Amino acid sequence: MAFQFPNGFLWGAATAAHQVEGNNNHSDFWLMENIEGSTFKEPSGSAVDHYRLFREDIRLLAELGLNSYRFSIEWARVEPEEGQFDEIAINHYRDVLEACKEYNVTPIVTLHHFSSPQWLIRAGGWESEETPARFARYCVYVMSELGGAIPYVCTINEANISIGIKKVIEQMQSGASVQVGINTEMMARMDNYYMELGKAFEVSPREIHTFLAPRTDEGLKVIFRAHVEARAAIREVCPEVQVGLSMSLFDIQSISGGEEHAANDLHEEFLQFIPYIQDDDFFGLQNYTRTVFGPDGALPVHENAEKTQMGYEYYPEGLEAVIRYAAEALNKPIIVTENGVSTDDDERRVAFIERALIGVHACIADGIPVLGYTHWSLLDNFEWQLGFSKRFGLIEVDRSTQKRLPKKSAFYYGSIAKSNMM
Ligand code: BGC
Repeated sequence: MAFQFPNGFLWGAATAAHQVEGNNNHSDFWLMENIEGSTFKEPSGSAVDHYRLFREDIRLLAELGLNSYRFSIEWARVEPEEGQFDEIAINHYRDVLEACKEYNVTPIVTLHHFSSPQWLIRAGGWESEETPARFARYCVYVMSELGGAIPYVCTINEANISIGIKKVIEQMQSGASVQVGINTEMMARMDNYYMELGKAFEVSPREIHTFLAPRTDEGLKVIFRAHVEARAAIREVCPEVQVGLSMSLFDIQSISGGEEHAANDLHEEFLQFIPYIQDDDFFGLQNYTRTVFGPDGALPVHENAEKTQMGYEYYPEGLEAVIRYAAEALNKPIIVTENGVSTDDDERRVAFIERALIGVHACIADGIPVLGYTHWSLLDNFEWQLGFSKRFGLIEVDRSTQKRLPKKSAFYYGSIAKSNMM
């Protein structure tokens, strides 16, 4: 691919703390993965030991030719008990930012990527009115310690994800076949699991409000208010930093008769949140596939369509469509904070990257301010409920030795980035 991207374009790859670091034992996920009857395929354990190997991983990213790294800071490490901030943890992230600087890599830092401290869940989690203030207090601590080294901060990853989760659960309850990456067999054991979780969190099973769960409308407001409060608090301590959040967006298409469903879906997944994000400095956009609507709602993936390991359609062209509709609704810079594919056939990842970047390039050529593309993921890692079985990485990891092995797609993507920096 010989396209010229703008100077200073951010060529990145992403990870999230809980998925790569290992031993995140103050987080809610740690508890959920390790209790009796857990619905997780396996626990995250030492993950890919990125907490220890971050420097090597950032060096590798830079050697491949990339110039940006999106990673998350783990709230449960920084504030393992409410109001008690851990200096060792914050200094660890200071070292990660130092390593970025040393290798000329621009950091994009996420302050919340799905996992939360256990104490937050005990205190009402993501349905509690108190959560925005608690989140903002944590953000202020991090940014007053590290903000000078952070150019872009993303408060909350996929703030709208609960809408998709709710849809999947409704689909499952209606007996329809589910096309997304949730382990349906495990979900069937949910009731028992929630009983156990209730005991572990010391709250009633109905009061467990982790981030990756269906939300009430009030709960959705809690999340977006947490973003707005955090943004204001961050700007007070670090007026220079660019603040945004990220959202998970599907390319939304329709066949004849499905137009209204498509329009409603766009509103539900995206447009309704614009009041909360219109004062952000940038928009973090994440896309993995498309949804096609017909007269009766979302259509199942066509039987002849290529599917990813997650069960949804392989559709790299979705990214361009999402950038276009986001740009139309929001007048601000866009960073693609995640885009990628879960596959064991790395040739398909190479093709995915090429096709996705053709779309990004077309958007830029039409004047849309896309500042960067961040591939998910830098490393094969812990795919939440589905454990280590799903492989999104540019770099393979042998977990028995924690050896890193860049795939062909890593060299391919790196070579595009390098040719654009010459
Ligand atoms: C999340 C990642 C996840 C990826 C692939 C995104 O929704 O931010 O944490 O691993 O998708 O499923």
